[in-house]
Amino acid sequence: MMLAAIPAVAALLLAGPVAPPPASARCVECHARSTPGIVSDWKLSRHAAVSVGCDSCHGTAHATAADAAMARLPTPATCARCHAAQVKQYEASKHALAWAAMMAMPTFHYQPPVMTDGRKGCGGCHAIGLKEEADRKAIAKESGRNYGSGSCDSCHTRHTFSVKEAREPEACKSCHMGFDHAQWEMYDSSKHGVRHELVRLGALPRDAAAPTCQTCHMQEGDHGVLTGWGFLGVRLPLSEDPQWKADQVTILKALGVLDPAGKPTTFLEVVKGARMARLTEEEWQVQRDRMIATCRQCHGEGFVRSQLRRGDETIREADRLMAQAIEVVAGLHRDGLLSRSKEQRSDYPDVLQFHDAGSPIELRLFVMFMEHRMRTFQGAFHDSPDYSLWYGWSEMQRDLAEIRAAAGEMRRVALDSGP
Ligand code: HEC
Ligand code: HEC
Ligand code: HEC
Ligand code: HEC
Ligand code: HEC
Ligand code: HEC
Ligand code: HEC
Ligand code: HEC
Repeated sequence: MMLAAIPAVAALLLAGPVAPPPASARCVECHARSTPGIVSDWKLSRHAAVSVGCDSCHGTAHATAADAAMARLPTPATCARCHAAQVKQYEASKHALAWAAMMAMPTFHYQPPVMTDGRKGCGGCHAIGLKEEADRKAIAKESGRNYGSGSCDSCHTRHTFSVKEAREPEACKSCHMGFDHAQWEMYDSSKHGVRHELVRLGALPRDAAAPTCQTCHMQEGDHGVLTGWGFLGVRLPLSEDPQWKADQVTILKALGVLDPAGKPTTFLEVVKGARMARLTEEEWQVQRDRMIATCRQCHGEGFVRSQLRRGDETIREADRLMAQAIEVVAGLHRDGLLSRSKEQRSDYPDVLQFHDAGSPIELRLFVMFMEHRMRTFQGAFHDSPDYSLWYGWSEMQRDLAEIRAAAGEMRRVALDSGP
């Protein structure tokens, strides 16, 4: 408050003897010319209706065309002054960790900056996460100004900051689509998404049941999104089923969480820190129970439990295929037919690397893990048989067959050109 008051006095002095309009009126007047779309959106917003002006978020240090760099660019802390409850929920969410999780990816550091920390590439979507002060400084150094720390504007886009917009599934679409997280396409093609569409079109009554992403993931408006299996589809403790457990261990090695001998690596700490996996049965069960309660608004208990169990079993089956493929490639490393690339963290296949994964066969393994395994189980949880079976499972089978064939060919060539 004190900080805001000092520049306001400066503006008053600069304005001379004529009584200046309130800080925001000046912003609005000038910006109606320089950025008319921003002003008209703000006028449509609830904020304008309740007199939350430009200065509430950007401060008053910038007052002329010449000192635009003095305008404060908001972070969730700016919103917290008036929306403490939502900011607190958000801070406990997986979204808040999006920037940290991205930075923790080994492959991240092999991409050119334009593909990472600006508003393009990785950073375009991961800007929903909270940034440390040091990260903001680094971005400002790299690109002149630290844009993209608003986080909250990911779903309530500026400057309407509309709650209605954020309630629609499209608010999630710009990030949750494509390659390794096609939840939008899965939902859109599921009975849930189709129902929602038909309600909008008026073919079904307005009150007909049709869940959105928010119904299932932001129950009662809770900003703390988090799921049981998460993105990677791994968790602790490992399964009691011996085969699945063995497959999970193979996958954890390929994630670099376990070393080739099966001992935890330092990357396990990263996975814990960014909450990439639930680490206890209880932690996982909390999320599962929350989901069951959500489905129960519309479906019976037996149906819900069987559907979610099917989702878990899909991960088990996908892990079986995945582990076999990893072992084929690991065998090539063991026998000296593949060598470790500079990005690989050990002499074991690394499914988190794609930039220079070492060889086409390892790139194929990356796609099998990131794209096809993800689609198999994400499609199952989002009730899209098409994604789960055709874009997921059947592609995994093809990956495994072709990885085996390529490995066989590599071994044959090695034998032919033998010592
Ligand atoms: C005399 C005209 C004028 C006034 C008054 C003015 N601005 Fe600006 N503002 C500009 C211009 C010009 C720019 C830079 C180009 C642009 O963004 O249109 C700018 C840029 C900005 C930016 C973007 C900064 C960046 O780094 O991209 C923000 C935020 C902003 N103004 C907010 C405000 C707020 C809040 C007020 C009132 C406290 C205000 N402006 C008053 C003209 C003005
Ligand atoms: C509720 C908070 C809030 C209010 C009120 C607000 N802004 Fe913003 N504004 C933001 C956020 C968040 C960003 C994004 C910052 C970033 O990218 O880091 C932003 C970005 C901007 C930018 C730079 C980005 C761009 O698209 O050019 C300008 C210019 C700007 N605001 C002007 C204004 C003006 C003028 C007003 C008043 C009419 C206003 N803002 C009111 C939150 C607000
Ligand atoms: C100075 C206080 C203040 C600040 C700072 C502020 N808001 Fe608000 N905001 C309000 C008030 C007051 C309302 C109206 C609440 C109501 O309708 O009862 C509101 C409403 C909203 C709504 C609901 C809009 C709707 O369509 O009903 C959203 C979303 C929102 N704010 C987001 C933000 C975000 C994001 C930021 C930070 C970038 C922010 N606000 C900063 C005071 C503030
Ligand atoms: C189109 C938007 C988008 C782009 C671009 C993008 N991501 Fe993501 N990323 C997401 C979404 C959405 C998720 C969460 C998906 C899920 O949980 O199914 C995610 C998840 C992740 C996770 C997993 C976090 C966890 O806790 O398991 C990491 C790490 C990650 N991304 C890193 C990156 C890196 C590195 C890049 C660039 C090479 C990148 N992302 C590019 C949207 C994106
Ligand atoms: C992942 C998308 C998403 C993000 C990110 C997000 N919100 Fe929301 N927000 C929503 C949804 C959805 C609702 C509507 C919840 C409901 O009422 O069902 C909402 C509602 C709100 C409301 C209105 C609450 C009410 O009861 O009227 C405020 C205020 C708000 N959000 C502020 C924020 C702030 C501040 C941030 C940043 C910390 C933020 N939101 C980030 C999706 C989001
Ligand atoms: C600006 C991009 C963006 C938008 C918009 C967005 N998300 Fe996300 N979401 C992400 C990223 C990135 C992650 C991964 C976070 C991490 O890496 O830690 C994520 C993670 C999640 C997760 C957690 C998965 C887990 O690991 O348990 C859920 C659930 C989720 N988002 C739901 C939503 C919903 C629902 C909406 C819309 C209301 C939405 N998101 C809007 C980018 C976005
Ligand atoms: C009918 C409820 C429902 C709807 C609608 C729904 N989800 Fe999900 N979502 C789930 C379930 C169930 C899981 C798996 C939970 C678990 O891990 O146990 C999940 C998992 C996720 C995950 C974690 C990775 C994954 O896919 O398994 C993200 C991210 C996500 N959903 C985002 C979205 C987005 C974005 C939308 C809308 C486009 C959406 N969801 C619509 C129920 C739903
Ligand atoms: C807001 C209500 C609502 C919620 C919440 C909801 N569903 Fe549905 N679901 C429906 C409706 C309506 C249909 C289409 C009619 C039908 O098949 O029952 C449907 C269809 C399905 C279908 C398609 C199969 C079939 O019988 O046609 C599955 C599977 C499903 N839901 C599972 C779930 C799961 C699992 C959850 C929780 C993660 C969930 N649903 C949450 C309303 C909901």
